[in-house]
Amino acid sequence: MSVEQGGRTKRYLQWCLAAVILVVVSVFGWIVFGPGPTDFAGGRHVTLASYQGQDPTGVPPALKAASAVERGEYLTRAADCEVCHTAKNGVPFAGGLAFVLPFGTLYSTKITPDSETGIGEYSDADFLGAVHKGVGRGHTPLYPAMPYASYTYMADADALAIKAYLFSLKPVHQAAPQNTLVFPFNQRALMRVWSLLFNTDKRFEPRVARSPKWNRGAYLVEALGHCGECHTPRNPFQALNNRAKFAGTVQAGWRAYNITPDPASGLGAWSDSEIARYLSLGHADGHGTATGPMGEAIDASLSYLAQTDITAMVAYLRSLPAIATADLPVANARPASSLHSEGVAATMNPQGKAVYEGACASCHGWSGISPVIPFATLTGARAVNDSTANNVAQVILSGARRAPRGDTANMPAFGGAYSDYEIANVANYVTARFGTQPSALTGERIAKLRAAD
Ligand code: HEC
Ligand code: HEC
Ligand code: HEC
Repeated sequence: MSVEQGGRTKRYLQWCLAAVILVVVSVFGWIVFGPGPTDFAGGRHVTLASYQGQDPTGVPPALKAASAVERGEYLTRAADCEVCHTAKNGVPFAGGLAFVLPFGTLYSTKITPDSETGIGEYSDADFLGAVHKGVGRGHTPLYPAMPYASYTYMADADALAIKAYLFSLKPVHQAAPQNTLVFPFNQRALMRVWSLLFNTDKRFEPRVARSPKWNRGAYLVEALGHCGECHTPRNPFQALNNRAKFAGTVQAGWRAYNITPDPASGLGAWSDSEIARYLSLGHADGHGTATGPMGEAIDASLSYLAQTDITAMVAYLRSLPAIATADLPVANARPASSLHSEGVAATMNPQGKAVYEGACASCHGWSGISPVIPFATLTGARAVNDSTANNVAQVILSGARRAPRGDTANMPAFGGAYSDYEIANVANYVTARFGTQPSALTGERIAKLRAAD
């Protein structure tokens, strides 16, 4: 090889290397610097201070003159701080809820005003640091299980009203359980890097071309309700991928469905009032009942919101780009035959049918239209029209309690009563009988769902 040829080969290799680096950097940049939560709307956006329209932040009109503590209570509900900061059957806001992750367990902290084991020593600036930047007192970087990448859009005044409410609670003094995260995930400093890449650390900016109702809805959904934390798929770094905004994903073992306006797999076939009823009551006739984490969000948060706020959220959800999900077909809205011996499901899956007959039919009926209470009607529900049957299995394992308080029709947990195979079979029976696409759950899958709980 001549000297000249060698030089050319070297230059060629250098070009290749540069091209590879460029591709890697671009892919990384594409993932990291995705669109913000309301970028799909386009148009000009301005800071809250320079916005001329009606203020999209704060409490609804009826509460405007209330004390900071009362306003804070409403906003704490809207942001649902309680659900994560309360252990199962524990004192509200006293922390200790376990987040079981593939690399260990993280516990939520106490946010009652105890000065030693709670947030009693937090200054206003410390509190804003935790909510907006994910930095706890003493510059401790917080794990993004605390959804600060969503709360960062919250107005300062709203975050401080929440602080005023939390500081009005009785302090609870009790040491927090120790996290059991393994190396390198126990290195909090890494969260600084995550935050730098994935937390915009920006307050909500209204879109001037959009209506006041839309802007209020956007603020409630993005800054307070953090709906995307469950309904938006994540990128490989566990940050929200807004390119698939609200297209649905599995979060903590439950499938949070597609809530874009797609007619088949999203909310396109729901009327505005059906979505509003589902959000405030946890049930919409013909579309099913909220169970699992969505039931909890309704119990502790959405059921307390003013109707004007609920309808603003609906208006915002309606404006999202529609995205189709391949394995969520149009939900079957027709009741099944009321003859319990009919349908392929009965002949193909006799064990599933036997369990259904013994444990389920009394409340859910053979047609899928409940003879007992509309909350238990299965016809039309997304869960039975989801061919993974993920949430059907979860509801059978852990039960549900959306029916109005004190109602004896609430669904008991069957996790202890049946084997993994029986649960898989009855779930497959339910999707085959009442849904559009039968599921093929296995006992192994049920064992996994149990282990993750
Ligand atoms: C989705 C679950 C979740 C929600 C919702 C949530 N948090 Fe947290 N929060 C956590 C977890 C988990 C931690 C602990 C993070 C860590 O240890 O790094 C935490 C930590 C905190 C801390 C730091 C506490 C300390 O001990 O220094 C504060 C303050 C806080 N949260 C306030 C709030 C407020 C206010 C809200 C509602 C606006 C809220 N959280 C909603 C999960 C949540
Ligand atoms: C903690 C996780 C979580 C959060 C936060 C959450 N959701 Fe959900 N959502 C779910 C799950 C899981 C389901 C499925 C429930 C079921 O199968 O009964 C669901 C179901 C729904 C449905 C019904 C979809 C269907 O096809 O049946 C709507 C509508 C909805 N969520 C809207 C919202 C809105 C709006 C917010 C924010 C205010 C929100 N969700 C916040 C987890 C969540
Ligand atoms: C005591 C009455 C009762 C029994 C028994 C019962 N359920 Fe339920 N089920 C309900 C009610 C009521 C709901 C709605 C949630 C709530 O309010 O608790 C529900 C919800 C469901 C859902 C979710 C529906 C949706 O809209 O997403 C499924 C799936 C389900 N049940 C399947 C079963 C299966 C399978 C069995 C038997 C193993 C069973 N249920 C036994 C009352 C019952």
